This record gives sequence, structure tokens and C-alpha cells, in this order.
Amino acid sequence: MTAEDEALAGGMLNAGAVIRRGALVERPAPRHARALHAYLLGLRERGFDAAPAPVALTADGRERLTFVPGDVPLPPFPHWAMTGAALASVGSLLRRLHETGKALPADARADWPRDLADPEGGTMLCHNDACPENVVFRDGRAAALIDFDMAAPGRPLWDIAMAARYWVPMLDPASADALYPVGLDAPARLRILADGYGLPAEERADLPGVIEQATEVCRAFVERRVADDDPVYLQALADRGGWERWDRVRTWLADHRQTFRAALLG
Ligand SMILES: Nc1ncnc2c1ncn2[C@@H]1O[C@H](COP(=O)(O)OP(=O)(O)O)[C@@H](O)[C@H]1O
Ligand SMILES: [Mg+2]
Repeated sequence: MTAEDEALAGGMLNAGAVIRRGALVERPAPRHARALHAYLLGLRERGFDAAPAPVALTADGRERLTFVPGDVPLPPFPHWAMTGAALASVGSLLRRLHETGKALPADARADWPRDLADPEGGTMLCHNDACPENVVFRDGRAAALIDFDMAAPGRPLWDIAMAARYWVPMLDPASADALYPVGLDAPARLRILADGYGLPAEERADLPGVIEQATEVCRAFVERRVADDDPVYLQALADRGGWERWDRVRTWLADHRQTFRAALLG
């Protein structure tokens, strides 16, 4: 690192390894970086500019992307990032990504990561990790998605479910209040996200079940990280209430399935 370099805060997988250098960001390249850069270029060619532009892959296994100016919400998440307007804008940004991405079928030869991928697969790429730390805001609205490391083929509904987990959030109230402004109304917010996306009525009834499925995939991901003694994930698990929290979330989601369906369809 030189004097002008700035380590960027926000991530867990590449914690400490993401460096801003002026207009560029340099970070460890995922193993499927070539296919991912081709996808990111394809998005831009089709007029989608709400993602970093890929610039280079270095010989030492890093990638360079454009830095996206704006504010990235970091935990504990600030109020400005959790307004209804912010939430609706996340939905519409995800929709724009999917509408453009539909024209860019996922490279079937690429080794897309399975970590957070839709078990049912698909032909288009989902971002899969549209958490607040991976969204850049400008003027209170979601302006860009970053960190496509986990992108993989899947159903669009899977990406909405993943975004809902982080943005509603789809957490029991005690878990949510520990990281988000207190007292968020989960059913109402799930509806705002779906409306912002423009989710068709016929897909709404399935969303609560897909959120439960996505939550299990995320839990299994954390279980693998913890089994590998990943210090960042061990610390985060301990700080956030251990496996009991994951159990509580599972029960809460199942208990409120009908409430979420009613909010989405009512
Ligand atoms: N292209 C970018 N433009 C603006 N900010 C970025 C960019 N890439 C990363 N960041 C900032 O750095 C943080 C960590 O980077 P990220 O690529 O998400 O790492 P990780 O893989 O560890 O999640 C992000 O939360 C964001 O604040
Ligand atoms: Mg990230």
C-alpha cells in the first residue's frame, strides 16, 4: 500500500484486502473473475451503469474495478439507509439488474460459486449478496450494486429473497433491533421491497418460502466457514448470538409465513 491507498471497510470475505486507489478499487479476484468481468462489461454495454466497471486482472491474482462514489451503509445500519424510499429503491435497482442481465446468459463453462447460489439454478446471474454493505447510495437512494463475488445462476426470485433477508430485514425483532433501527415493520417492508421491484402477483405467494430456503443456504454457508475456523465468521457468529439466533430466525420465519404472504398479496 502507498500513502494514497485507502483500505475500504464493509466486507467480511475480503476484510482488509479491498483497497481504494483514487478512481479504482483493487481486491482479491474471485477464481471465476474472467467470466464475471465479461458479465459486468456486458451490463455496461447494455446501458446498466449501476455496477463497477471491470478494469484489469493482475498477475498476482487481484482485480481492479472502478470505485463507485457514494455512501455504503455499514452496521449498525443508519436510519437513512432503512427508510421506505431507500428500500423501494433497492427493489427497483435489483429489477434493473435483472432486466439487463436477462440478455446475458450465465457462461455455462464458468466455475460460478455455489456458496449462496439458488439450489434450483437458472440461466441468468443473480447477485446473491445484495446486503447493505454491497449497495452504494446517493441522495438516499440505491445507486449501484458492488461486490459480485457471489453472483451465480439462479431464479430472480432467489435474489429478491436474499435482498429481503438483509434489507427488510427478515429477522426476528430481537435480532433485527441489534443491527438495524429499532422497530422496523417486517411485513410492511417486505411489501415495499416487492413493490419497488415490481414483483408480479403470481410470484408473491412463493417469496416467503424462498426466503426460508435462502436463510438455510446462508446458515449452511456460515457453518462451513466456522467449521474451517474462519476468524471473521467465528467472531461475527459470537457477536450476534451464536446458533441460537439462527434457530430463532428459522422459527420466526416459519411462524409468520402467512403474515408475509398476506402483506405481499393484500
Ligand atoms: N467498486 C467500489 N466502489 C465503491 N466502494 C467499494 C467498491 N468496492 C468495495 N467498496 C467498499 O469496500 C467495502 C468492502 O468491499 P467488498 O468488495 O464488498 O468486500 P467483501 O468481499 O469483503 O465484502 C464495501 O462494503 C464498500 O464499502
Ligand atoms: Mg462486500
